[in-house]
Amino acid sequence: EAIDVVVVGSCMTDLVSQAPRLPRAGETIHGHKFFIGFGGKGANQCIQAARLGVKTAMVCKVGKDFFGDNYIQNFKDNGVYTDFVGQTSDAATGAASITVNDAGENAIVIVAGANMLLGREELQKALPAISHAKVLVCQLEISPQMSLQALRMARNSRVKTIFNPAPAIPDLDPDFYKVSDVFCCNESEAELLTGSSVTNVEEAHRAGQELLKRGCGSVIITLGPQGSVVLKAQESTSKHIPVTAVTAVDTTGAGDSFIGALAFYMANYSTVPLEEMARRANQVAAVSVQAVGTQTSFPFRHNLPAELF
Ligand code: RIB
Ligand code: NA
Repeated sequence: EAIDVVVVGSCMTDLVSQAPRLPRAGETIHGHKFFIGFGGKGANQCIQAARLGVKTAMVCKVGKDFFGDNYIQNFKDNGVYTDFVGQTSDAATGAASITVNDAGENAIVIVAGANMLLGREELQKALPAISHAKVLVCQLEISPQMSLQALRMARNSRVKTIFNPAPAIPDLDPDFYKVSDVFCCNESEAELLTGSSVTNVEEAHRAGQELLKRGCGSVIITLGPQGSVVLKAQESTSKHIPVTAVTAVDTTGAGDSFIGALAFYMANYSTVPLEEMARRANQVAAVSVQAVGTQTSFPFRHNLPAELF
């Protein structure tokens, strides 16, 4: 069976503390709940796409340790193809320390570990899958040069690419724009990449235009409760896609749920306009923010209204 969505990216073990607020420097505060979950932007996006019903493969590296073994099982439990999941004894499985406050906002420190050891050989091994996929998805929690390489491989085979520049870096290689069919980021990443403030729809339109000029096929900037803006290179329009208000309990991974859903739509509904895909992906992500955790909050196809399919 063909693999339609390939994600080249990260796996992290999420160590999550829920607390009334985020601590300040030098401060200790009491939280009320701690749990361990499966995270990492790449894996989150892959799992969300898989849960909507598309054949997915993950290209990544975990440690030869307890967390790495568990992560491989997690992929299998979610029906993700794992032949390109490598294990190394040279570094530990990536970890993310996450604090979530009562408003559902978070602060995250990641130690990428084994993710940084994903190299050219592994990409080469995955090339047959990448070049036969419908959609390839990359982020920035592995070595940026590996993400760029994977995007180039996909482009060379006319595979659609989604690039999520997260977490954003100020000195992003300009080639990333040229190899992205869809360049998808949130407001803070757009701010860092353009150097201008992105706090509302108007500013997002402007930042989107700036990013689009750098050479991508289209740009999506996600704005949390304000929905998203979608810009396409062929049409000189910038469209705002609003989202119905929900009560957020934990927004961790909402952007990943959005991108995973977008990859699913691009693979399975390639004739649907990008704005409509963004509207539907927003609805999927809105479900995820209403439950605690990252992947634990990502909906399956059967949890969602039929009109999304
Ligand atoms: O986007 C959310 C993710 O960012 C978390 O799962 C954490 O692992 C970090 O990578
Ligand atoms: Na959530």
